[in-house]
Amino acid sequence: MLASLVSIKNPLARSLTAAVTIGSAITLTAAIVLGATNAKDESAYKTAIYTTLAGTGFGALLGLVYQGQANQSASAKPLTDQSSAPMVEGSGWQDWRNFVVVRKVKESEEITSFYLKPVDGGAIPKFQPGQFLTIKLEIPGQPRPIIRTYSLSDYPDPCDYYRLSIKRESAPKELDVPPGIASNFMHDQVQEGTVIPAKSPSGKFVLDLQKTLPAVLISNGVGITPMMSMAKAATQLKLDRPIWFVHGARDGRFHAFREEVSAIAQQNSNLNLHFVYSRPRPEDEGHYHSTGYADTALIQTLVQQEAEYFLCGSPPFMQSLREGLQAAGVPTSRIFFEAFSKGKPAPTTTQSTTARDNDKIGGAEVVFAQSGKTFTWDASADSILEFAEANDLEPPYSCRQGICGTCMCKISEGEVEYQTTPVATIDNGSALICISKPKTARVVLEL
Ligand SMILES: Cc1cc2nc3c(=O)[nH]c(=O)nc-3n(C[C@H](O)[C@H](O)[C@H](O)COP(=O)(O)OP(=O)(O)OC[C@H]3O[C@@H](n4cnc5c(N)ncnc54)[C@H](O)[C@@H]3O)c2cc1C
Ligand code: FES
Repeated sequence: MLASLVSIKNPLARSLTAAVTIGSAITLTAAIVLGATNAKDESAYKTAIYTTLAGTGFGALLGLVYQGQANQSASAKPLTDQSSAPMVEGSGWQDWRNFVVVRKVKESEEITSFYLKPVDGGAIPKFQPGQFLTIKLEIPGQPRPIIRTYSLSDYPDPCDYYRLSIKRESAPKELDVPPGIASNFMHDQVQEGTVIPAKSPSGKFVLDLQKTLPAVLISNGVGITPMMSMAKAATQLKLDRPIWFVHGARDGRFHAFREEVSAIAQQNSNLNLHFVYSRPRPEDEGHYHSTGYADTALIQTLVQQEAEYFLCGSPPFMQSLREGLQAAGVPTSRIFFEAFSKGKPAPTTTQSTTARDNDKIGGAEVVFAQSGKTFTWDASADSILEFAEANDLEPPYSCRQGICGTCMCKISEGEVEYQTTPVATIDNGSALICISKPKTARVVLEL
């Protein structure tokens, strides 16, 4: 009975169920005893009634108390240091919430999907198609938790799980460096049952479900992940919005979700598919539409009407498409893109200025205004974000690479300098603290 009680999440419902169950059990027992003993004594009946009432009260109390025990057992699992994440009304939860991998599915030679459900068994918010989840991995040998962001690649209805689809990142051929830390850990070490803390879904690369203008989703490689949730949302909700789903892969072995998206397209005439393979194998015959690349020339042959364009894929692919579409007259306001990585390191945007004085910066005063704390800059810190964390502050962040914009914060005084060129669009008077250091002797951040 206790196990069934734990499964009831609403404390009032749990309390009522326990009260009714225990009260009924005592009434039944009392009736059997009274019947068997043939008691005529009025006090025997009174005792039975009082015992039933006491049992009902005890049941109600047990139902309430058992909630605490249920929560406790969830937070005692491994990696559950911050599992009690309060829900934020209408959006998601604050900080980290523990999820358990309930399914792991190989989608292609390089991509594997992970289905996540919350350990606490509570509801999870519906997200906007195209958004990502930030996860935290405790990887043996790593000095600190590894934080990564992964697009949500499904659009479940009802929303009772999140799916991440992760490409195994190998080391670049030309460099003697280790392979991708998080993606290889996910592929090799994370199994069904592994608990992973995650932040609430976020991200601005989303398909607006209110618009009716045709949407062209163009991806290559693992860039297909946000497109999957967009295509699924559009078809599930029966949006009156034509969708083109154009995906480029080397060949069938590297093409994730081919069957899944083809099945959706068969049921939805609004979803137009085009798969383009750069090096198809004979056995891929009949499973792709053209040979070559998902480039502007191909898009122009497929789409001849006004549309919004959503791009996600390798850095050269995105750059050439953005330039090509703009050259073809598509306004930038209709081109949306998500960068998973920066590609080759770009030079920093910072110029040396007279304001820059290495000695001064080494001892720069960094004011975290909202926290009411001031510290002297530690020149060994890689970024202001890292410096803030070293001083026990917890600014929000996600990619830590200047891509997602999560760490953006207002600067009310001074300037920062970027270590690499930011990819995220930065609001006026703000900075991405994950890739910047103080540039002036005093920096005041609204943090
Ligand atoms: C918004 C967003 C959404 C994303 N969605 C997805 C998704 O749906 N699926 C997905 O698979 N990924 C996604 N990503 C990318 C993901 O967050 C990770 O960046 C990716 O998995 C690589 O992380 P890693 O820890 O495996 O690799 P890292 O350890 O970060 O390494 C990345 C690469 O750098 C190489 N490298 C290591 N050291 C060096 C060095 N010293 N010099 C040069 N190169 C080096 C590695 O070999 C590897 O190839 C997304 C990213 C963002 C920002
Ligand atoms: S954390 Fe993503 S831009 Fe800084």
